[in-house]
Amino acid sequence: MFPPTIAVLVITSCLLAGASIVLYTVKNGISPMPTSAKVRQHLLSIIWELRGETEGRSVGNIYELGSGWGTLACAISRQITDTTVVACENSPLPYLFTVVRTKLGKYHNLALKRQNFYRLTITPAELVVCYLSTEIMAKLSLKFQRELRPGTIIISHTFALPGWQPKQIVYVNNLYRTPIYVYCIPRTTLAATAQL
Ligand SMILES: C[S@@+](CC[C@H](N)C(=O)[O-])C[C@H]1O[C@@H](n2cnc3c(N)ncnc32)[C@H](O)[C@@H]1O
Repeated sequence: MFPPTIAVLVITSCLLAGASIVLYTVKNGISPMPTSAKVRQHLLSIIWELRGETEGRSVGNIYELGSGWGTLACAISRQITDTTVVACENSPLPYLFTVVRTKLGKYHNLALKRQNFYRLTITPAELVVCYLSTEIMAKLSLKFQRELRPGTIIISHTFALPGWQPKQIVYVNNLYRTPIYVYCIPRTTLAATAQL
C-alpha cells in the first residue's frame, strides 16, 4: 500500500489534470481528441503528393494548429524530415505530454509552442494542418487570408473552411468517410485583403 501522503498527491494530481483538460476543452471549444491512424496515413500521403506544388517554394515549414497530444505532429516530423514542423497547443497537459514524447523520441525537426494559435504568426508556413471544428475554422479563415502567403496549402480533416473552395477533397475509407479538405491560398485573396 502507498503511504497516505503519496496517495493524496496522486489523487490530487489526477484531479488537477482532469480539471485542466475539461477547462481547456470548454475554453477552446474542442477536446484534444487525436487524429485516427487511418486518417493520419491518408493525410501524410497527401502531404507527400503536395510537396512539389507550393508555387515553386519547397515545403520548409509545416504548422499544425492545435496539436493535442502530438500524435499527428510527431508522425509528420518523422516522415517528412526535410521540413520544420511547428506544433502549437495551448492546453497544458497535452502540451506537456508532447514535450516528453518528443524528448524521448528525439524529434529534431519539431518545434513545440505552448500558445494560443490565434496569437501565433503563421506567415512562414508553406503548409498548415488542422483538425479543429467548423466554428474554429470560420474564425481562422480571416487569419489565413491575412497571414498566409500565396501558394500556401491548408489541409483540414473533418471540418471545412466555411465559404472556401477546396482544390481537393479526399475521403478516407473508414466508417465516417472522413473528408480531408485541401486548400491553396490564391494570389487574389492576399491582394484583396491587403486593401482592408
Ligand atoms: C481535435 S484536437 C486535434 C489534435 C491533433 N491536431 C491531432 O490531430 O491529433 C484539437 C486541439 O486543438 C487545440 N486548440 C483549440 N483551440 C486552440 C487555440 N486557440 N490555441 C491552441 N490550441 C488550440 C485543443 O486544445 C485540442 O488539443
